Amino acid sequence: MSVNVSASAMRSVPVGAEGAQALALHGVSKSFPVRGGGMLEVLRGISLDVRQGEIHALLGRSGCGKSTLLHIIANLIPADAGRIDIEGVDSVEFRDWETIGYMFQDDRLLPWRTAIRNVALALENRGIGHAARLEQAREMLAMVGLSGFENAYPNELSGGMRSRVALARSLVRHPRILLMDEPFSRLDAQTRSEMHRELVRLRDLFGMMVLFVTHDVEEAAVLAGRVTVLAPRPGRVVAAFEMAPTKVPREGTDPAVVEDVRRLKAALGDTGNPPAGQDGFAPVNGDRP
Ligand SMILES: Nc1ncnc2c1ncn2[C@@H]1O[C@H](COP(=O)(O)OP(=O)(O)O)[C@@H](O)[C@H]1O
Ligand SMILES: [Mg+2]
Repeated sequence: MSVNVSASAMRSVPVGAEGAQALALHGVSKSFPVRGGGMLEVLRGISLDVRQGEIHALLGRSGCGKSTLLHIIANLIPADAGRIDIEGVDSVEFRDWETIGYMFQDDRLLPWRTAIRNVALALENRGIGHAARLEQAREMLAMVGLSGFENAYPNELSGGMRSRVALARSLVRHPRILLMDEPFSRLDAQTRSEMHRELVRLRDLFGMMVLFVTHDVEEAAVLAGRVTVLAPRPGRVVAAFEMAPTKVPREGTDPAVVEDVRRLKAALGDTGNPPAGQDGFAPVNGDRP
């Protein structure tokens, strides 16, 4: 059990209640070995917490380690240091990984599988029969507004519809925590706003918490209740904002959003790169997009 999340607090706040910590990171650090020797320090001492039911944005420029951090949280790669508590349980002891859903930046739909079979894929190896898998996938497609498109192939769907299929696939196991890695960055502005509304609706329906990675200041401002801002080289937390909106997603034209965008831009604008070699870091190989 986690030491940091106080046991009494955990008892007094039922799991799943608004405000309970779903996910807490304490001093998470990561370096990768680089070709030719040496290490690239990608994340340094990342601490943040995400509350149950919250949409929490992780905002940072390309290359500041956002995807790496999601990979670590999802147990796909190990951290070098630090601790992660998931629903109050140290991730080292955590076993219920199905609790966590993951939506990648590229939708990763298999082109040779229909929409329903792409969604059903997430249910394989779980001891559920074929027919039941398809039934659950059909239900989830209906929930994201894609009834009637079960048998469409990905190349027959618009960008927004593909996004909905990917969302359905990441939700079909009913995760309590959803990690999203710039999931809507390839959509046009109008479709992206539609997907924001869709995400909020599904969050309300399932009561899950969402950790949403983006490099887009406005997206963070309209969608998130709280925003953690990362700076690059090494990736570290430089600011955290409590937006406390009464209702999300907000309109981009809302004066409060305009003000929040300004504040977030200022925080992000301060994240200039230190000179090469500072903090033991020397840029190698450039950043991946
Ligand atoms: N497996 C890896 N091996 C070496 N370097 C990596 C690896 N994964 C990511 N990186 C490097 O870590 C840095 C952060 O990458 P990433 O987490 O993808 O950033 P972001 O998602 O914020 O754009 C980049 O410089 C990238 O090249
Ligand atoms: Mg990334």
